[in-house]
Amino acid sequence: MKIERSVEVGLAERKYVILIGRGILENAGDLISPLCISRSPVAVVTDTNVWRLWGERLASSLSEAGVAFEPIVSPAGEENKTLGGLSCLYDGFAWMGLRRDGLVIAFGGGVVGDMAGFAAATWMRGIRYVQIPTTLLAQVDSSVGGKTAVNLPQGKNLAGVFYQPKLVVTDTSTLETLPEREIRCGVSEVIKYGAISSANLFNKLLDRTPVGGMAEIAGECCRIKSEIVERDELDSRRRMLLNFGHTFGHAIEKISGFGEYRHGEAVAFGMVIAAVIGERAGVTRPGTADKIRKALSAWGLDADYPQDSAPLIPLLSADKKSVEGGVRMILLRRIGDAFVKRMSFSEIEALLKPGMNGQTRLDFEGGGR
Ligand code: NAD
Ligand code: GLY
Repeated sequence: MKIERSVEVGLAERKYVILIGRGILENAGDLISPLCISRSPVAVVTDTNVWRLWGERLASSLSEAGVAFEPIVSPAGEENKTLGGLSCLYDGFAWMGLRRDGLVIAFGGGVVGDMAGFAAATWMRGIRYVQIPTTLLAQVDSSVGGKTAVNLPQGKNLAGVFYQPKLVVTDTSTLETLPEREIRCGVSEVIKYGAISSANLFNKLLDRTPVGGMAEIAGECCRIKSEIVERDELDSRRRMLLNFGHTFGHAIEKISGFGEYRHGEAVAFGMVIAAVIGERAGVTRPGTADKIRKALSAWGLDADYPQDSAPLIPLLSADKKSVEGGVRMILLRRIGDAFVKRMSFSEIEALLKPGMNGQTRLDFEGGGR
């Protein structure tokens, strides 16, 4: 067994463990077989890329452990995280005869994880599922905490449910085949963890000093996330902090048709926008936005949304943190210290206009930078 880190998500009867290790996929069958309480075959929900690159490894591990399974392979990409994509998963479940005492394995990045989790939560009113995340973003964030969803034409992740997995199996060696762009997207979420709750992690990222092996990074992010989720599973208070950068990030994803920018790239823009708003509102230590810009560019991420940000504001009303006439923004006091602030749309609009505090990167008219 190659387990290097183990993090428990302590949610009483919904508690589970995140097992992290290099090469642990080879042990997936043995780890998952105790959850197979019936003879119903397991549904392995995955995408074309992941199945081509890593399917054989998982398939032989399951077979060696005597776990019967059927792969359900979706086209890769955020564009497929839709009701149509979900419906294809239900078709697959029906075709293979997946019963309520069966099991779903979500094998892939955040798109597969979110969709497979939602499908498991709703198939026959809920069957158990396991996450095997294969992108950095999924290993440090989306596989943990039980947020499942699909996008609607009206907005990001609008149809979904909280539904915790029974187990998370994280093999950091799967990142060896991950394209550079996807690694950067994962780093964006790691920078988020540093920005909201660990100045130490943030500073290491800023300097690009070795942060430790992948298992250590994933373990640290999962530890931070599990502590937050344990205190606020349903995202009504403290868990909102995990959405730093996501309010504008989701709007950017939507306005660009869920294809132009990857989720992590949009969150990178969103973190800078939120930091600028905080600085201009006088609640964020001056210089914080520039620190975030530096950390993002140290890892090759673009920091400044290259379009006019004004059209994003009307989209904020579709955000899940929206309130009458405004939205609950996640802001920073300083790096490592985040809080929630209710702000009106007009306040946000005024703060994003150029000329305040000498910072005019988020131009309202004429394209901006
Ligand atoms: P993704 O799932 O689309 O994966 C990115 C690309 O990498 C895809 O083309 C995929 O096929 C490919 N891929 C996956 N693993 C690979 C590997 N090991 N080698 C080579 N290619 C591989 O995207 P993502 O960035 O992992 O996830 C983004 C999604 O996660 C968004 O929909 C976002 O909303 C969601 N998300 C959810 C949560 C949550 O808490 N549920 C948190 C953050 C993000
Ligand atoms: N990724 C945000 C959350 O899980 O709450």
